[in-house]
Amino acid sequence: MTEHFPDNFLWGASTSAYQIEGAVAEDGRGPSIWDTFSHQPGNVLGDDTGDVACDHYHRWPEDVALMRELGIGAYRLSTAWPRILPEGRGRPNPRGLEFYDRLVDAVMAENIEPWVCLYHWDLPQALEDRGGWQNRDVASWFAEYAAVTARRLGDRVKHWATFNEPNAASVLGYCEGKHAPGIRGRESALKAIHVMNLAHGLGTEAMRSERADLMIGNIYNFHPREPASEREEDEIAAIMLDALWNRSFPDPQIHGAYPEPLAAEMEALIQPGDLDLIKRPLDYFAFNHYTRSRVRRDPDHPFEVGTVPPEPGAPVTEMGWEIAPSAFRQVLIEAKERYAGEMPIYVLENGAAFPDVIDVDGRIRDEQRIAYLRGYLGAVLDAIAAGVSVRGYFVWSLLDNFEWAFGYSRRFGLVHIDFATLERRLKDSFHFYAELAHGAALERE
Ligand code: FCB
Repeated sequence: MTEHFPDNFLWGASTSAYQIEGAVAEDGRGPSIWDTFSHQPGNVLGDDTGDVACDHYHRWPEDVALMRELGIGAYRLSTAWPRILPEGRGRPNPRGLEFYDRLVDAVMAENIEPWVCLYHWDLPQALEDRGGWQNRDVASWFAEYAAVTARRLGDRVKHWATFNEPNAASVLGYCEGKHAPGIRGRESALKAIHVMNLAHGLGTEAMRSERADLMIGNIYNFHPREPASEREEDEIAAIMLDALWNRSFPDPQIHGAYPEPLAAEMEALIQPGDLDLIKRPLDYFAFNHYTRSRVRRDPDHPFEVGTVPPEPGAPVTEMGWEIAPSAFRQVLIEAKERYAGEMPIYVLENGAAFPDVIDVDGRIRDEQRIAYLRGYLGAVLDAIAAGVSVRGYFVWSLLDNFEWAFGYSRRFGLVHIDFATLERRLKDSFHFYAELAHGAALERE
């Protein structure tokens, strides 16, 4: 069976600054928390760092040519706060702004719409030194950064996101210590959640006062969390992880309140007027989705939550993430019911890591990635048929890149990168995706 996507469906690809740019000490860029974190031995697999990454900072013309060949209508990038404001605040760095200026122009010259996310996890180290996301002042400094960036690029860039997965940035970075800045704790996590929420609200306002014609959103992550057993303690843990991971940002930003069972604990951090600042009208509803997981009580975790591996025999990616397109369909339906309402919905990340092999003829036959994408894109069609207005889908990712704590060991790209030579090579999935972006129907199993 083959099925077409609606006319005007937006095909995109996503990347982020620290994961692809490299050039971490060039043209006045300041250090970010990921520079610090990745340079501390033991934090990242193989002690990999983003020092060079895909060297996109120098090779962007080649990458923009790849985007053209892919046929996408939109490219989502993130701006690096430490390139634009090396100290996190104060005087902007002209060379940092010029880089994004040129990139945006080059992308637009190919009729590709640039979508810009302001925060994809690379907080300037200078601000972490002042308490990072546990310090309320950082929310105001984020708003300054948002204003500076929107002022410079807002005449051309219309789609903006304040944050990419603030839930992952706060939970992995300030609760579990698995991501930069490597902090573990319960209070630190709650503070980070609240300050990032405030930053979203203040940043949105700051951008709106720069220009009235911007489309502003926030990129959530939805990851269904089911209890691993019928034990009450696992059910309690699943409810807690669902609140922490899936609800702690969209609930206050869209409904003006923190979700149970976190609401009471958040009270101590909320100052009068905060929730009004956080709840700002959004212009579109965006999220990332990869998998679902099963939750059990873990007494050693700051929130007593943990996950167990998928059922034996369940299909998984190289991340160990279960492949379950039906969960994606459900997530899309719930996103509309709980949050999006009449807002257009965009999936801004979805994709899979698999161990790619270059065959003797030079081809990369990444059939597993194609099958993953086929299944998940089928779920998008099912959700559309069920009345969910999904307007676009952005694959993660254009290029293999620095996969955070996994370093270069996990490849999500449609384009293979040889990290020794930085050579780019198209995978079969690139051609699969290009056909769809050029209007082909999806062949469904
Ligand atoms: C998401 C991140 C993205 C990438 C993918 C695999 O959580 O936003 O940077 O790491 O996962």
